[in-house]
Amino acid sequence: TLPKTVKIVEVGPRDGLQNEKENVSAEAKIQLVDMLSAAGFANIEAASFVSPKWVPQMATSREVMDKITRRAGTIYSALTPNMQGFEAALAAKADEVVIFGSASEAFSQKNINCSIAESIARFEPVAAAAKANGLRLRGSISCSFGCPYQGEVPLESVADVVRRMRDLGCDEIDIADTIGVSTARKTQAVMETAAREFHLDRIAGHFHDTYGQALANIYASLEVGVSIFHSSVSGLGGCPYAKGATGNVATEDVVYLLHGLGIETGIDLDKVVDAGLFIMGQLGRKGNSRAGNALAAK
Ligand code: HMG
Ligand code: MG
Repeated sequence: TLPKTVKIVEVGPRDGLQNEKENVSAEAKIQLVDMLSAAGFANIEAASFVSPKWVPQMATSREVMDKITRRAGTIYSALTPNMQGFEAALAAKADEVVIFGSASEAFSQKNINCSIAESIARFEPVAAAAKANGLRLRGSISCSFGCPYQGEVPLESVADVVRRMRDLGCDEIDIADTIGVSTARKTQAVMETAAREFHLDRIAGHFHDTYGQALANIYASLEVGVSIFHSSVSGLGGCPYAKGATGNVATEDVVYLLHGLGIETGIDLDKVVDAGLFIMGQLGRKGNSRAGNALAAK
């Protein structure tokens, strides 16, 4: 049986907009986050405190966090690769910080400029500081289903990083398909591997839709009991350090699927569609959500 309720983490303001060439103004990001919280998301990834030389699109993260209207019950998350990022997230009053590693050595080097082991050592003080300050801690594991640089990623590498993230005290762990290469059965094998190391109800699926498999991978994950998924409004996004990777699975499509299955999300789909129309209007193009486009045309 499938889960009765699912938590969707809306990552469009971070994963989506970090990869847009157009410079989206802080004002537009603030309005987007506020429209998303009004749509009912319990968790929105709103900021990323990384080097502005690496990802200039996220340089306005502090302003965004300062000016959004915080909705009671919504967790606002921020990416924090190191202590400098953590201090910024704390000052910006993030509710949750996200340490992000990789199951692939090659991707770790490209994305955060260090080995997997070095990244875990960097995350240790971040994790301790998160606990000391009462913030939620999430661990994200890129390339859990394949890597743009090394190709195949062994299940044991995923299990190893899940254990390390667990031992750092993560409240939630994201199993990420950075380049969208997984297919349904493979997805189940990886999720089952992760669930042998960590609580199944605190494992999240983060699927990019590069090969059009994301919804199938979500359904496959539901079948093995995963009940947290990440998605981006209008399918915004990608990763600047994974060439050719397209956006996350579109939130509108995921909500449409889940509601069709009778699974509760707490999300108002019409309001998500409005948020998508707003941000795509800012970007000057049509969104990538099939359900979103269909509903908007009604
Ligand atoms: P580094 O160059 O090794 O770091 O980068 P460093 O400690 O040597 O510092 C170099 C410079 O960066 C210094 O400035 C620092 O102050 C500055 P300088 O003295 O040269 O002027 N710096 C910072 N500035 C602001 N905030 C910080 C920070 N840290 C250092 N936190 C580092 C290492 C991790 C910083 C760098 O590699 C980086 O910022 N990488 C970010 C990459 C990134 O954001 N990728 C996208 C997000 S991950 C993702 O999308 C995947 C995910 O969606 C899951 C999936 O789909 O797979 C989560
Ligand atoms: Mg991502």
